[in-house]
Amino acid sequence: MQRVRTDAPLVLQLAPIGSLADQGLREEFAAVRLWEQADAEAWLAAHGAEVTCVATSVRRGCDAALIAALPALRAISSWGVGFETIAMDAAHARGIQVANTPDVLDDCVADLAWALMLAAARRIGAADRYVRDGHWRALGEFPLSTRVSGKRLGVLGLGRIGAAIARRGQGFAMEVRYHGRAPRPDTSYGFEPSLMALAEWSDFLIVACPGGPQTRHLVSASVLEALGPRGILVNIARGSVVDQAALIRMLEEGRLGGAGLDVLEGEPGAPAALRTCDDVVLTPHVGSATRETREAMERLVLDNLHAFLRTGRVLTPVR
Ligand code: 8YV
Repeated sequence: MQRVRTDAPLVLQLAPIGSLADQGLREEFAAVRLWEQADAEAWLAAHGAEVTCVATSVRRGCDAALIAALPALRAISSWGVGFETIAMDAAHARGIQVANTPDVLDDCVADLAWALMLAAARRIGAADRYVRDGHWRALGEFPLSTRVSGKRLGVLGLGRIGAAIARRGQGFAMEVRYHGRAPRPDTSYGFEPSLMALAEWSDFLIVACPGGPQTRHLVSASVLEALGPRGILVNIARGSVVDQAALIRMLEEGRLGGAGLDVLEGEPGAPAALRTCDDVVLTPHVGSATRETREAMERLVLDNLHAFLRTGRVLTPVR
């Protein structure tokens, strides 16, 4: 598309984000859409030096090569709370501000974590299939499942989403403990300095830490072993945090009670071993996917750009 005002800062949009953000980027910023250029490389070579702001998403990211191709870049506004697809070191080295969309999704992601925990424990997916497949009448009572209320809830990563998950434990009379890089001074939940110890203690372990190389396979075979045959794992963070091959093995051998997974290694899609396992509940990476939350996330992408252009600071810089 053509830019309307050539004196305005040039905002480059790397990929579609969502209808509200896409429209706002077009109407409020006359953003150039990189993926619509006939030859993106040629466009970058001709205009890269004019770009001061980038709009992207955690799905598309912004890598070091692209940052290098934009020598005047000063701000990246990204949709999503995750930022593992953005070359943060390259951005920091150049003093480029990076904004994500935190806070606005905490409740919906926490709700989904609880939905998965309840569904895995009470075997909602299997029970639903039992009724639909006519087994209720043919076979009688559905097998017993696992109680949630009053049990022990372990949270890996007590950030904003982890804290929202933990808060919900109160309504279910659950004791909550957590593990992370350091204890948080502003909370009374028990801190477990080792993830193994947290897994051993927990009836339910919910993964809510960031993705990326630093947390890859943090939930290892030994951690799953510690969670044990009655333990349930829930992951609403990133598939990369869990050693999925080990998870599948443990489920097949009955050494883990069950799992509720919104994110998977190799997503989109799920391996047959998970799709056919009755002790697993799967959702297709929809933690933040409610109309209300997605609208707020898209609005924040635009607001971060407006704030940067007005004040020189984005509203929600990646912490
Ligand atoms: C999205 C997310 O649901 O914000 C994030 O980092 O992972 C989620 O909000 C996800 O990016 C959908 O692909």
